[in-house]
Amino acid sequence: MKIAFFDAKPYDKPAFDALGEKKGVKFKYFETKLTEDTVSLAKGYDGVCVFVNDTVNEAVIDKLVEMDIKLVALRCAGFNNVDAKHAYGKIHIVRVPAYSPYAVAEHAMAMLLTSIRRIHKAYIRTRDFNFSLSGMTGFDLYGKTVGVIGTGKIGKVFINICKGFGMKVLAYDKYPDRSIECETVQYVPLDFLFEHSDVISLHCPLTEETYHVIDERSIEKCKRGVVILNTSRGALVDAEALLNAIKSRKVGAACLDVYEEESDFFFEDFSGHIVDDDILARLISMPNVIVTSHQAFLTEEALYNIAETTVDNIIGILSGTGTENELCYRNGNAHDCKKCF
Ligand code: NAI
Repeated sequence: MKIAFFDAKPYDKPAFDALGEKKGVKFKYFETKLTEDTVSLAKGYDGVCVFVNDTVNEAVIDKLVEMDIKLVALRCAGFNNVDAKHAYGKIHIVRVPAYSPYAVAEHAMAMLLTSIRRIHKAYIRTRDFNFSLSGMTGFDLYGKTVGVIGTGKIGKVFINICKGFGMKVLAYDKYPDRSIECETVQYVPLDFLFEHSDVISLHCPLTEETYHVIDERSIEKCKRGVVILNTSRGALVDAEALLNAIKSRKVGAACLDVYEEESDFFFEDFSGHIVDDDILARLISMPNVIVTSHQAFLTEEALYNIAETTVDNIIGILSGTGTENELCYRNGNAHDCKKCF
């Protein structure tokens, strides 16, 4: 089985090579992203393996089908970059629904603590032998209220971490899991969450419903000084509205592992270039904004689990035995296939 692997990075290769060799899947690594311009590189392969910022739109899908390619293997959980409706019945799309919710939830808390305790500032100061504490005052998480939007695998781990800090949790999910409710965790309507949270963390998928869930209107409802955490998908936040709210001091801090226009920049070295996205550049220039480049997933455990599930998904589809991790568009909504394809 031969797979064209797009947007390949050095940290991807060890686990994919080891597991691929063991199980009979050969990967050809391409540094470029999959787009309409690069899709022809996949000619002659059985499938393509892609990540969060590769493009799997109508044109790319049609070209893959024309080249007789059977499979798109996403090595990630989110599939907002895939036109699942167009793909349905034409080409198999598989994903990795879970690989380490701990990796993402722990990164979210790492960003929160870094931000509110000014660790990013302290690191730079002490390296310069500046031991002054002015401007470094933070606040305790103990006793504060965190609003968690999306209480799936990652949201639940994040809630547990917050409980460990003695925080009160207000949760919102389209499909609440009442089993997690307790004295300190309570499902509430979204507006209530906005109005009462000191910190808001996003752990829902990007859909038409959740697009810009953090926008001017919702920020208006929030407490002054609220901290916004987004480790989910960039377009959950209207970045311009966030920037304006930071400038007006309504939002106290933002921690962003994702950004709406990240595909133009993230995963690449732009240190010698002029970044022509003024909103991103202005956000990064703010002392109370921390941006990481979609790295919340990046732990050894997650990389191994991603490779293992992806290789098994590829074998399942190409050998005909199937996989439950196939995306299905039956009933008009993309969901994991339970062998109904
Ligand atoms: P999950 O599927 O276990 O949980 C998502 C939750 O969101 C579910 O409980 C679902 O009911 C809820 N939800 C769906 N629509 C909603 C809506 N309209 N409003 C509120 N909640 C809604 O997914 P998981 O594994 O927890 O991942 C969450 C998100 O994290 C993914 O969609 C992905 O975008 C992001 N992610 C980010 C990574 C990173 O490296 N930064 C890595 C992995 C995932």
